[in-house]
Amino acid sequence: MAVRAYIFDAYGTLFDVHAAIARHRDRAGPDADRISDLWRTKQLEYTWTLTAMGRYENFERLTERALDFALARFGKNDSALRADLLASYRKLDAFADAKDTLRALKQAGFATGILSNGSPGMLQAAIDASAIGGVLDHVLSVDALGFYKPRNEVYALVTKALAAQPSETVFVSSNRWDIAGAANFGFKPVWVNRAKLPDEYPDMKPVAVIESLSALSSLKI
Ligand code: LAC
Repeated sequence: MAVRAYIFDAYGTLFDVHAAIARHRDRAGPDADRISDLWRTKQLEYTWTLTAMGRYENFERLTERALDFALARFGKNDSALRADLLASYRKLDAFADAKDTLRALKQAGFATGILSNGSPGMLQAAIDASAIGGVLDHVLSVDALGFYKPRNEVYALVTKALAAQPSETVFVSSNRWDIAGAANFGFKPVWVNRAKLPDEYPDMKPVAVIESLSALSSLKI
């Protein structure tokens, strides 16, 4: 079926999750990048474990708990740094090509949107900070459901909001496991592989792999 919408994952795809540590790199010290990586890894792990257990805490809370683990793991007992990192996480930078890419898709007649684990308040704060609200038709959060990606019901928030078939939606994510979930649901997934990572999930493939969001406009899907 013809594509009607381009829906984006938020954290890591439109917003740079490592922008928070980048703003406080000196205070985070020599382990700054490892703290940031572990923060992200634990944040995602908590979404998967809680969802597998049938439990839920919102993404903002899990982001705090993941940061607490990462700071403790690297011996950083600094409550002011913790507060500043969390404040920065609410105002992450969008990737430089995010806004222009969304605008070009809208101008080409496609619906645009976000489908994210993020809780509504933190998503809106990030959207406002990067001023991309005007190029987004839909902002959908798992919070309405109380469990996380990659459950099929999460991706179904998109087809319900758009009154569309899964195959009418291109789903764009930098997270390969999210691409697997999107493929499993029946979307046309496009993997943004900025880090040139090796492929995974051989049974749940993207329809295309790109290295930056701006490459979307020249893709034929
Ligand atoms: C999101 C997480 C996966 O925005 O980054 O849904």
